[in-house]
Amino acid sequence: MIKKLVPEHIASIVPYPPGKPMEELEREYGIGNAIKLASNENPLGPSPKAIAALRGVLRGLHRYPDDNGFYLRRRIAEKFQLPFEGIVLGNGSDEIIEMVIRTFIQPGDEVVVPDPAFLVYRLAAQAAGGHPVAVPLRDFVIDLDAIGAAVNARTRVVFITNPNNPTGTALSRSALERFLDRLPEHVIVVVDEAYIEFSRDPDIARGFDLLHRGQPRMVVLRTFSKVYGLAGLRIGYGAMQPEIAGYLNRVRQPFNTSIPAQVAALAAIDDEAFLAQTRATIWAGLQVLEQQCRRLGLATAPTQTNFMLIRVPCDSKQIYQAMLRQGVIIRAMNAYGLDRYIRVNAGLPEENERFVRALEQTLEGLAH
Ligand SMILES: Cc1ncc(COP(=O)(O)O)c(C=O)c1O
Repeated sequence: MIKKLVPEHIASIVPYPPGKPMEELEREYGIGNAIKLASNENPLGPSPKAIAALRGVLRGLHRYPDDNGFYLRRRIAEKFQLPFEGIVLGNGSDEIIEMVIRTFIQPGDEVVVPDPAFLVYRLAAQAAGGHPVAVPLRDFVIDLDAIGAAVNARTRVVFITNPNNPTGTALSRSALERFLDRLPEHVIVVVDEAYIEFSRDPDIARGFDLLHRGQPRMVVLRTFSKVYGLAGLRIGYGAMQPEIAGYLNRVRQPFNTSIPAQVAALAAIDDEAFLAQTRATIWAGLQVLEQQCRRLGLATAPTQTNFMLIRVPCDSKQIYQAMLRQGVIIRAMNAYGLDRYIRVNAGLPEENERFVRALEQTLEGLAH
């Protein structure tokens, strides 16, 4: 009965694959001390400055947050020399993705997404009655020529992830600029930079540089969930020309980011010591993962993020299950159409070691 009440474009959505809480997995599999390297989180925990700032807000939680997000938006604007009016805060950058779709997509409009890509682009498009148009990557890199060719009169939004999830690959400044120059005026481009703080590529395209030069129809997404270690608080932002922000603010829920989220993000954004420590930990971890995969004869994709895609010799779900039984949670890439790949994020040195040991045992198990 309920089914009849649900519009077809909602009923046909395949929901985001739900994970189980760590405690539940540990109970189910009879393991203790599980480690999670599946969601590209910061292995060092939250920024210590954010933790200290959070202690100070507890007694004010009976109040609504500042709907305007004034202090955080002002600091973001100052730090990156962007217009204050062009910064929109979101309950995670996920929410900005949704705001862009709700602002620009009417039923039947097309949304061009790389494939594979972060699943939320497609989910948000479908929820609004839009048609996601998936454009395959080329050699694990977003194929800007093919994306350009997929744009037509019905296209309203294009998503570009730089560096990309789940492949970790980056786009160069010149490649993105060329692409933007050819994009027709009826298309908004979202450049999702959730992982850009981990990149060591001097040539990587940076959305803020393009905004400084006046790029008119672009929304750059950044998040506090990764390098800043605040995934559990849900806070991210979009940077864009103020005119676009004015429209996003019409669909934004009032009070969409909480007091703790705003306060912690404001403290974390200037926690340079923590950011440096995070990058050093991730880069060292990725190097270990890469070396060890090479030793095990497994190919890895070059990465500019905090995670790595690894090719495995069997269905990745099998590896996922076997690793889980050893208390190591990683991501099988089947949901992304990459049946022979797993994705793992760099962890603490001891976590990386455990991952390698579990992977090695799993591969040995397969050989028998
Ligand atoms: C490419 C990409 N964009 C956006 C997000 C969402 O981040 P947030 O936690 O800010 O919603 C993620 C999170 O995994 C991601 O991988």
